[in-house]
Amino acid sequence: MKISFANLTQPTSGAAVVFALEGRKLTESAAALDKLTKGAIGRAMKASRFKGKRAQTLHVLAPAGSKLARIMVIGLGAAKDMNENTWQRAGGYAYAGLAKSGLTALNVLVDAVDGTKIKPAAAAANLAFGAGLRAYRFDKYRTTEKKDAKPSIKTLRVLSRATAAAKRAYVPLSKIADGVVMTRDLVSEPPNVLYPATLAKQAKQLTKLGVKVQVLGEAQMKRLGMGALLGVGQGSRRESQMVVMQWNGAPSGSKDKPIAFVGKGVTFDTGGISLKPGPGMEDMKWDMGGSGVVIGLMKALAGRKAKANVVGVVGLVENMPDGNAQRPGDIVTSMSGQTIEILNTDAEGRLVLADALHYTVDKFDPKFVVDLATLTGAIIIALGNEHAGLFSNNDQLSERLTKAGKEVDEKVWRFPLDDAYDKLINSPAADMQNIGGRGAGSITAAQFLKRFVGKTPWAHLDIAGVTWSKKDAPTVPKGGTAFGVRLLDRLVANHYEKR
Ligand code: BES
Ligand code: MN
Ligand code: ZN
Repeated sequence: MKISFANLTQPTSGAAVVFALEGRKLTESAAALDKLTKGAIGRAMKASRFKGKRAQTLHVLAPAGSKLARIMVIGLGAAKDMNENTWQRAGGYAYAGLAKSGLTALNVLVDAVDGTKIKPAAAAANLAFGAGLRAYRFDKYRTTEKKDAKPSIKTLRVLSRATAAAKRAYVPLSKIADGVVMTRDLVSEPPNVLYPATLAKQAKQLTKLGVKVQVLGEAQMKRLGMGALLGVGQGSRRESQMVVMQWNGAPSGSKDKPIAFVGKGVTFDTGGISLKPGPGMEDMKWDMGGSGVVIGLMKALAGRKAKANVVGVVGLVENMPDGNAQRPGDIVTSMSGQTIEILNTDAEGRLVLADALHYTVDKFDPKFVVDLATLTGAIIIALGNEHAGLFSNNDQLSERLTKAGKEVDEKVWRFPLDDAYDKLINSPAADMQNIGGRGAGSITAAQFLKRFVGKTPWAHLDIAGVTWSKKDAPTVPKGGTAFGVRLLDRLVANHYEKR
């Protein structure tokens, strides 16, 4: 969808989208349009339960006195409750409400709303951002879908009295959207197309934005002693990879200690010799979700030229059963020197992260490291699909993540860590084992990771429940969500950019 900003005028064809506040209070342009159409909007509101509440929508077809095909009215709720997300979601509703209407152009009329802190420019920019995010679709492999079944909307024009400022405000948002789209594309690609080498190649594309991208192959990782990561990939015909991305946007140059993000990139997780059951196994194509977020985040940060030094590291492997696959009972030596007894080859993400995390803290000495991983099914049992699990050795970092999550509507919920949980992964045969007992599966997984970050402030986001969605949300169509890109971009913007 092509997005543009223009000055506020009443559109004379296609679809006009306008807004109402709670109590059926039309905004200025909506009221003007109501007048133009001889009260069509007012009558439609009275003929329905539309009250202008958040998320309520109303369609008026072929209104009298106008050549418009349609008017869509979107409820914004109470002015005092509105924020950037209200406008993002409104953009999502506008797109979704008319996407398959047969019309090709959306004209959205954005006014100043009394009693909110959001200026018209920010409102217009956020509306465009939300509409663009909702318009995402992964359809490159669909060759026979009928034209009638596809979305018809091709352009979005956001009309306001703050065109120039809206355009300016939209620039960084559009770069975040670019990052989100890249992440969604990566998690949606099938595992025969996206495997460690091809995922690394996608990350390499960030070079164009000024990101330094280095790819380590199996020989280099072997020299570094990454026995934990390499053990997971040894049953695959695809070569394991590690990608190291560096964005040095701090004004002081590369002297500033970086912040670091690490992602689990299991391009397909069969479980290995501890094979997963068949039904639903196709979902394990998105077991590289953490790495997808780190790559999309680097794209967003570099795209908007974030004034921060940021390192992104992703460990990329395919977990397959094979004559050469890792066995339950194997003991591997990680880059940190710690040995791990493999009791279940399906607990592979933590093995990949063990080496990726150690490498990151050892090589870059970052201010903090945040890892993202579709790590445990147990986190879905605990939190469903509404929050990501947060585990951390640092209260300040946890609070900042929690706050950023609320701001962008990618929420996280903190779980405890404790020596008593840590003990559960001690092994009689090695320094640790890769699974705990039946209880607290997400916590013992996090305790495992904690053993590889030393004293560095660290947070782990278990995103198994939020990486893929089965239902549409206002700015997130079903499928890959890119949960984490907006959250971590906001974390960086709030606390780690020099101004
Ligand atoms: N990739 C899975 C976790 C997962 C499950 C992600 C469902 C998304 C949806 C992970 O590698 C895994 O298999 N974890 C095991 C750990 C267990 C063997 C200790 C799990 O959660 O069952
Ligand atoms: Mn697994
Ligand atoms: Zn996995």
